[in-house]
Amino acid sequence: MQDVVQEELAASLKGRDFLMVGDYTPQEIRYLIDLAIDLKRKQKSGEAYQPLAGKTLGMIFEKSSTRTRVSFEVGIYQLGGQGLFLSGNDLQIGRGEPILDTAQVLSRYLDGIMIRTFAHRNVVELARGATIPVINGLSDLSHPCQAMADYQTILEHKGTFEGVKLAYVGDGNNVVHSLMMGAAKLGVDISIATPEGYEPDASLVQQSKDYAKETGAKIHICRDPKEAVAEADFIYSDVWASMGQEAEQKERELAFADYQVNEALVKYAKQDYKFLHCLPAHRGEEVSEGVIDGKHSIIFDQAENRLHAQKAIMAAIM
Ligand code: CP
Ligand code: NVA
Repeated sequence: MQDVVQEELAASLKGRDFLMVGDYTPQEIRYLIDLAIDLKRKQKSGEAYQPLAGKTLGMIFEKSSTRTRVSFEVGIYQLGGQGLFLSGNDLQIGRGEPILDTAQVLSRYLDGIMIRTFAHRNVVELARGATIPVINGLSDLSHPCQAMADYQTILEHKGTFEGVKLAYVGDGNNVVHSLMMGAAKLGVDISIATPEGYEPDASLVQQSKDYAKETGAKIHICRDPKEAVAEADFIYSDVWASMGQEAEQKERELAFADYQVNEALVKYAKQDYKFLHCLPAHRGEEVSEGVIDGKHSIIFDQAENRLHAQKAIMAAIM
């Protein structure tokens, strides 16, 4: 019976795009996380698993990247395929070729496309025009691959999602949007504290609250970082100014001054809390050096899981 369910989930994932966490059912998300954990075990024990032999993933980058680029490129290689780095500046889209044309052309050569871009509509447009799976490697709206690695990390540390409380302190940005939708889908309680004017997107909050009805997750949005981290198992932070918002750096530093995750704030969390950050981090801004480099920080386990989580996504949909 269990095998039949797994086969049905595998069949439902094949050929799909991976654009938003919300596009997937709780069962599909859990399947991908379990697959990521299994692929991690296989890799660590030297067991080859190459279902994507002969396949090519195109990777379009319109923004900088360390983790996403390297983990996708290494990941597809480990699965038997190859990755092709495509800089947005060098592609003809940089000179105005329509995304829809690009999508159709690339579909004739490639077996999958990962895109990191600014406007989320670019991701949607690419997926609309492509006849091969498209993966969102970060847009201004969401960062679903990050959330998959984050929940894998949480599961590995806690053994369950039940009763887990996650706190996010800072900007209501792409990273927290995916984190919030993941919490709703997986039944994790999430508390998000942001300054006024920097709240997560209201329609995504509503969507998450709707998903949460099915799983019982609590989605709580507040102002006070102390309220958000109270009794938290995990505290998450991200930069105050995301890629593309560099000009707002100074005004954001003022707005977020009381939103640093530091030694004083983490006292409100559970004693054995863990610190998460998608990276890159700015020590002394959104997080103190003591916290990010301290014994509660699991940021490098989290970063490693990008590789395993994305291998699971590629193996399942490509
Ligand atoms: N977390 C993350 O996506 O890192 P990169 O920007 O280095 O890819
Ligand atoms: N919110 C950050 C995440 C980087 C991985 C950004 O978009 O720049």
